[in-house]
Amino acid sequence: MADEYGLLAEDAVDVPGDEWEQLDVSDTEADRIARRRDREFDQFRKRIKDADQFKVEQSVFDDATYAALYRLVQNGFVDALGGAISTGKEANVHTALGGRKSAEALGVDVGDAARGEAADERPEVAVKVYRINASDFKDMRSYLEGDPRFEGLGGDKKGVVLAWTKKEFANLQRARQAGVRVPTPIAVERNALVMEYLGTAEGRARRLSEVDVENPETAYEVVREYMRRLYRAGLVHGDLSEYNVVVHEDRLVVLDLGQAVTVHHPNSREFLERDCHNVAAFFRRQGADVSDDELLAFVTDDEE
Ligand SMILES: Nc1ncnc2c1ncn2[C@@H]1O[C@H](COP(=O)(O)OP(=O)(O)O)[C@@H](O)[C@H]1O
Ligand SMILES: [Mg+2]
Repeated sequence: MADEYGLLAEDAVDVPGDEWEQLDVSDTEADRIARRRDREFDQFRKRIKDADQFKVEQSVFDDATYAALYRLVQNGFVDALGGAISTGKEANVHTALGGRKSAEALGVDVGDAARGEAADERPEVAVKVYRINASDFKDMRSYLEGDPRFEGLGGDKKGVVLAWTKKEFANLQRARQAGVRVPTPIAVERNALVMEYLGTAEGRARRLSEVDVENPETAYEVVREYMRRLYRAGLVHGDLSEYNVVVHEDRLVVLDLGQAVTVHHPNSREFLERDCHNVAAFFRRQGADVSDDELLAFVTDDEE
C-alpha cells in the first residue's frame, strides 16, 4: 500500500495494553481545588473570562471546569487557553498553548531559556472540554454499560461525564498502541482532555468531509486498515465517518474516540456495522467500488 495518507507502519504496533485498569473514575483533586478556591485560582478564572476569545462566548465553563483547567496549567500541560475550534453537543474543543509537559509528551524540545538554550516553539495542543450539564447522558450511559471498567459507576451526570473523558483518553492510548493514527493523548483532568493539536497556521486540520479526496481507493484502504487494527485491539469506534477523520500533513488521523466501546459491549456489533456502513457509503460517494459487507468482513477477519 502506498505511503499516501500516511498509513502507520505495522512495526509501530504494540500489543494492546491494559491501560483500562489504570482508570480511576473517582472524584479528582480538581474538585477539591474548586472548593478551596484560592486567590490564584480566582485570578486565573478572571484571566480566562476576560480573554478576548471568550467574551463572545460568555461564561463557557462552570467553576469546577475552571479548576480543572487551572490544574492543567499548574501541572505544566497548558500555558494559555485559546479559542474554540469546535462547539459540539457534548464537548467543546479549544486550542491552547502547550506547557512544558505537553512539549515533552509530544517530543518537542523547548530548551531551557534560562541557560540560553535554543528552543523549538511551544506546541499548540487541543483541549476537549466535556460539558457536565448538557447533552444526552442517557445515551452516554448506554455506551458505558456492560463495560467491566465502569462497573459500579453511579447514576449521576458528573460521574458519567468524568468517566467518559477518561474513557476517551484510554481509547486514544489503546488506538495509538494498536497502530492507528490518532492525536497523541497528553493528559486528562476531570472533564478536560489534552491532546496533540492537528492543524497548521491555516487552522485546524480539515475533516474528510471538507476536502477533495484525490485518491479515494487508497484513503479507503487506510481507514479500513485502521478499523481492523482497532478491532483487533478490542475496540469499535462507534461514530466513525467522514466527520471524525481528518487529513493532517497528508495523513489520515482518526478522532473522537469517546464513545468507542470494547468488543464485549452488547451493542458492539451493531456499532461496527454502522461504522462500516458510514465509511463505505462515504467512499462510494467518492467513486470507490466498496461495499458495507466487504468492509465488515475485512475488519473482522483474523486472516492476514
Ligand atoms: N486534536 C485535534 N486537533 C485538531 N482538531 C481537532 C482535534 N480534536 C478535535 N478537533 C476538531 O474538533 C471537532 C470536534 O471534535 P470531536 O472530538 O469530533 O468532538 P465531537 O464529539 O464534538 O464531535 C473535530 O471534528 C475536529 O475538527
Ligand atoms: Mg466528532
